[in-house]
Formats: sequence, C-alpha cells, structure tokens
Amino acid sequence: MKNKLFSVDVGATGTKAAIVDVKKGKLLTERIKYPTPDNAGPEDIARLIKQLMIDLDYQGKSMGIGFPSIIHSGVCKSAVNVSDRFIGVNLEDYFSQETSCRCFCVNDADAAGLAELHFGAVKNAQGTVLLLTLGTGIGSALFRDGVLVPNTEFGSLHYKDGITEHYAANSARKRKEQSWETWGNELNEVLQYFERIVSPDLIILGGGVSKKLDNYKSYLHTDATLIPAQHLNEAGVIGAGLYARMQLKKL
Ligand code: BGC
Repeated sequence: MKNKLFSVDVGATGTKAAIVDVKKGKLLTERIKYPTPDNAGPEDIARLIKQLMIDLDYQGKSMGIGFPSIIHSGVCKSAVNVSDRFIGVNLEDYFSQETSCRCFCVNDADAAGLAELHFGAVKNAQGTVLLLTLGTGIGSALFRDGVLVPNTEFGSLHYKDGITEHYAANSARKRKEQSWETWGNELNEVLQYFERIVSPDLIILGGGVSKKLDNYKSYLHTDATLIPAQHLNEAGVIGAGLYARMQLKKL
C-alpha cells in the first residue's frame, strides 16, 4: 500500500493540496493554495487540480479529494456554495478521467473529521462526536464510536428564515460585521440546535476561525465538551488522502 498520496481540499473560496503521508497523517510537502474561481464548474476545478499536481510534481496513481457537497458513491448531490453544474456529476469518474489518476472523493467536512479522529487530539474518540468546520459554510462530520455517518450537512439545516450556515458560518460573521460576542452568541444558538438533534458527547470546531476560539469560547455553552480541531486548516487535506487510502484498502 502506497502511503504517500496527493490530497486536495476543494473549498468555496480556496483549493489546497499537498502530498500527505496518510499513515502518519502528516504533510510531506508544503500546502499550496489557489483561489477557487467564483462559480467554478467541473472544468475549472479539474484545471486547478492538474495545476496543483504539476506544482507538487505528483507522479502517483491515486488521489483523495475533499469536496464541499453531498457525495454519494462519487456523485455530487448538492451545491450550496459551489456551482450547480456539479449536481449529478460523478466526480470520481470525471476527475479520474481529467487527471489520469484514480480519484476518490469525499465531503470536505467528513474528510476533516476523519483526519481528526485518526490523527488528532481525539484519536479513536468513542460516543457521538460532531466535528464542525466554520468557514464560508458550516461543514459537519458525525461519528458514532469512531464510525462516520457521511454527508450530514448540518450547515444546510433550516434555521430562522434561512439555513444555519447563512446565519452562523464565519462568512456570516464577516458579512454582518459582527463582534466576537455577537457572533459567539449566534453560533451558540446554532450549536445548541445541533445538540438537540444528536446530543453529541464532543464537539470539535475546525476551519480557520477555530484558531481564534479564545475570542468567542466564553459565549459558547454546550452540554458537550467543546474543543478546537488539532489540525485546524490542514485537516481537510490530510483527511482527503486518508479517505483515498481507506478506499484503496477495500479494493
Ligand atoms: C456544504 C457542505 C460543506 C460545507 C463546508 C457547505 O456549504 O454544503 O457540503 O461541507 O459547506 O465546506
């Protein structure tokens, strides 16, 4: 089994890649990031991935891709923060054909969650664990005794007059020009709403803004223990590679 895999984290605003040691959960190269073009479609993302492969001189045969949508058997089933031209596209087939590499695709938050549970502070955590990524959207990864329940999409749950991520993602904080206190209180409402649904034992906050948890932690009052992700922004990249390794092992 090859342990070095090219791993991509496609985001609504930025697309990142690195070569990852998927056995140790460590980046073997720098992590390169390009802005994701507005309303990027399949061909734009394929172009970015091919450029990132060239930049990192990747010669391997497989790769993992974290992608911000529901992904069912490789097929993109939703498009909240990406172009709706992705809906119905078999991302694994499409990117494999474009890159001449075997591509394995997973929801980006599920990828981040896999990385945290395999290599993070909560390695092998038992019980119900909910990892949330706070960025342009809210990504969610739900685990029960270490087993992933994929595609939970808590950021798309209806809340007030919209969906939770439009209310309390980090992009909502910026858009509404909120103080840490105001945003912290709104995020707290949403976390408590999520708690009502799955009663987690542990909530892990990821995404860039989790680095600043000290600024808003005092406004968050959850029953579950709440901690920042250990891999912060790298979790998505590491987890995409890990997911590919898990799929390759099944073949
Ligand atoms: C998407 C999710 C994704 C999250 C974080 C949301 O807009 O619907 O699939 O996990 O953003 O990127």
